[in-house]
Order: sequence, then structure tokens, then C-alpha cells
Amino acid sequence: MKAWLLLAAALLLPCLALAAGESPRLVGPSPMPAEVPAPPLPADRADDVRRTRNYPDQPPVIPHSITDYQIDLNTNRCLTCHARQYAEAVQAPMISVTHYQDRDGQFLGGVSARRYFCTQCHVPQTDARPLVDNRFEDIDTILERLRRGRDGQ
Ligand code: HEC
Ligand code: HEC
Repeated sequence: MKAWLLLAAALLLPCLALAAGESPRLVGPSPMPAEVPAPPLPADRADDVRRTRNYPDQPPVIPHSITDYQIDLNTNRCLTCHARQYAEAVQAPMISVTHYQDRDGQFLGGVSARRYFCTQCHVPQTDARPLVDNRFEDIDTILERLRRGRDGQ
């Protein structure tokens, strides 16, 4: 009987904590069924500063606005600046050689179909507050910590 009581208490405790004002971060403070107006979309970060990649083969994030940049079967706005033949005129970084390779590693004359829809992999950034903290550390940070531990610092 006592075990049952303990179990019931253990199950109830988290619910009580929630009721006491700790609402789940993804839902926010308003009650579940209430319809609240969506917050305005945060603006793109468009400061033209290229960001460090977290690991060498990370698709770099986009440091400029891409509002209304069309990408479909007939047109690809991104390529009007980033393709090899146009990069110089606008001083854009050329898409790297991997974008000209098919899945067998063969080099193609034009952009590979699997790298055509740029925003599959490259995303703009905003100043939105992350819902969940990001505790990612890059390899240099980890190695530095290990080194400090070894040197007893
Ligand atoms: C008008 C020309 C232009 C267009 C169109 C354009 N870009 Fe760019 N892009 C640039 C320039 C110039 C830079 C260099 C940084 C800067 O000035 O913003 C850049 C930087 C980038 C970078 C950062 C590269 C790095 O090494 O950090 C990415 C990724 C990128 N663009 C992706 C895109 C994607 C995806 C699109 C289409 C949705 C696009 N760009 C459309 C001109 C353009
Ligand atoms: C399937 C994922 C994917 C797609 C789709 C893709 N990229 Fe990339 N992109 C990457 C990755 C991964 C890198 C970094 C490693 C590399 O160069 O392959 C990269 C690198 C870049 C760079 C930096 C090149 C450099 O040498 O600094 C630019 C600019 C870029 N991509 C633009 C584009 C544009 C424009 C498109 C659309 C035409 C596009 N990418 C489509 C994955 C992708």
C-alpha cells in the first residue's frame, strides 16, 4: 500500500510543478487551448559578416537577406551571384567544387541537381531567442579543455 502511495506522489509531483507556473517552454505561458496571435517573424541578420563554421563541412550560414529570392525549376536567384561565372562581378564566394560533383564524385559542367535547392542546406540567421539552449562545442574547444586538464591548469 505504501509503495502505491509513493508511486502516486512521484507521478503527481511534476504536474504540481507545472501548475505552479513552470509552463513548458515550447507552449509558453498561455493555456493550451487558447488561441494567441503569432509573434512577428524576427528579421534576418543581414550584416554581410561570414560566420565561423562549427566543423569543416558544415554548410555555411547565409549572412545576407534572402527575402523573395526565387529558387525553382526555371530560375535560381542564388546562382546569379554564387555560380562560378558570376561570382567575381558581385564579389560573392563561389559555390565550392562539391556543388559541381554528382553523387559518384564525377565533376559536372554545371551545378549538380543535388545542390540546386540551396536553402535545403544553407539557412539565414535571425536574432530570435532559441527555445532550447545550444551547448554545442567545436573540436578546438574540446581539445583545449583536454589539454588544460592534462597540463593541470
Ligand atoms: C546579389 C548577390 C547574391 C545573391 C542573389 C545571393 N548571395 Fe549569398 N552572398 C553574396 C555575397 C556578396 C556574399 C559574401 C558576404 C556578404 O557580402 O553578404 C554572400 C555570402 C553567402 C554565404 C556565406 C558563405 C560563407 O562562406 O560564409 C552563403 C551560404 C550564401 N551567400 C548563400 C546564398 C543563398 C543560399 C542564396 C539564395 C537564397 C544567396 N546566397 C543569394 C551575394 C549573393
Ligand atoms: C546538400 C547540401 C547543400 C546544398 C543543396 C547546397 N550547398 Fe552550398 N555548401 C554545402 C556544404 C556542406 C558546404 C561546405 C563544404 C563544401 O564546400 O562542400 C557548402 C559551401 C557553400 C559555400 C561556401 C563555399 C566556399 O568555398 O567557401 C557557398 C557560397 C555555398 N555553399 C552556396 C550554395 C548555393 C548558392 C547553393 C544553391 C545553388 C548551395 N550552396 C547548395 C552544402 C550544400
